[in-house]
Amino acid sequence: MVTLEKAKLDWPHLDFGYRKTDFNIRYTFKDGKWDEGTLTRDEVIPIHMAATCLHYGQECFEGLKVFETRDGEAVVFRIDENAKRFVRSARKILMEPVPEEMFIDAVYRVVNANRRFVPPHGTGASLYVRPLLLGTGAQVGVKPSSEYLFVVFVTPVGPYFKTGFKPVDIVVEEEVDRAAPLGVGDAKVGGNYAAGMRATVRAKQAGYTEVLYLDARHKKYIDESGPANFFAITRDNQYVTPESSSILPSITNKSLVALAEELGLRPERRPIEVEEIFDFKEAGCCGTAAVITPIGSITYRDRKVVYAPDGQPGELCTRLYNTLTAIQVGDAPDPHGWVRRIPPDDDR
Ligand code: PLP
Ligand code: COI
Repeated sequence: MVTLEKAKLDWPHLDFGYRKTDFNIRYTFKDGKWDEGTLTRDEVIPIHMAATCLHYGQECFEGLKVFETRDGEAVVFRIDENAKRFVRSARKILMEPVPEEMFIDAVYRVVNANRRFVPPHGTGASLYVRPLLLGTGAQVGVKPSSEYLFVVFVTPVGPYFKTGFKPVDIVVEEEVDRAAPLGVGDAKVGGNYAAGMRATVRAKQAGYTEVLYLDARHKKYIDESGPANFFAITRDNQYVTPESSSILPSITNKSLVALAEELGLRPERRPIEVEEIFDFKEAGCCGTAAVITPIGSITYRDRKVVYAPDGQPGELCTRLYNTLTAIQVGDAPDPHGWVRRIPPDDDR
């Protein structure tokens, strides 16, 4: 049981924003090896102006959530999957990967140092963990850096979409591609998000919450949303989600596929034609930040399909959401072993 006094925050009403905490942790890769890592209160990174992350985009990141259980323990969801994906993202743009054990240890250290910012159980909030890896070597030629900085910071957050678990309106994006079929769309690298910003900003200006990207080659199949994967429930109660080389392999989606199987929803990953949206019963976005965000409507050219005419999440989105979030916060059994208790520093 943790006795540390909590930070004074309005836990149930946090948005998805940056809030200063006590510490972040930094590791440096130089002369072929990683250092031991240092906890610091400094929020600023000193960086060479010719660092490869700044001009050639040698940068990747992760996002994961820590929750407090009813018993006051800090737990993290599927951290081993984030550690693996961080390695894959780094390799894809020729950065020095962070060893998985080091990634996990870094997250544990920084969470323990910021324990008072782990939101209390039952508030709906979580401690969002943001690991990032930056190429820091000074270079002007386009080639991989030989020096790297690995930083992990944390920030307490509420829902990514400010309405929380409420249906959102989405528009199919046809003028902007987020990622190419043989590009880096399946890696969590900053450039993918930069590529999508003008689409998202324009969609918001037009009154939508987010965009749905189509595959860049055919403009025919659904890829994913800006910050999350896409899934749908067919009229015969099947969970379907796109198969594509240009989307991020979402850990939340992978978990939902497993839960959908258990709920009898016969999950299937396959190319999904955009025209199929008119036949689905329910649809949603899923991701660490988005959790499950039900889709209320999708606008495609001059047509609009409405899944939530009453403004309420659909039955199956709700079941999936309740099942997933109960496991994440330790309120339901965890038969897959997805949730790990974060051991206090002296237990490691
Ligand atoms: N797709 C994109 C583009 C994302 O940024 C994210 C967020 O991480 C996801 C999907 C969902 O992935 P995950 O469930 O692993 O958070
Ligand atoms: C996450 O879900 O963790 C992400 O990194 C998505 C991001 C756009 C907030």
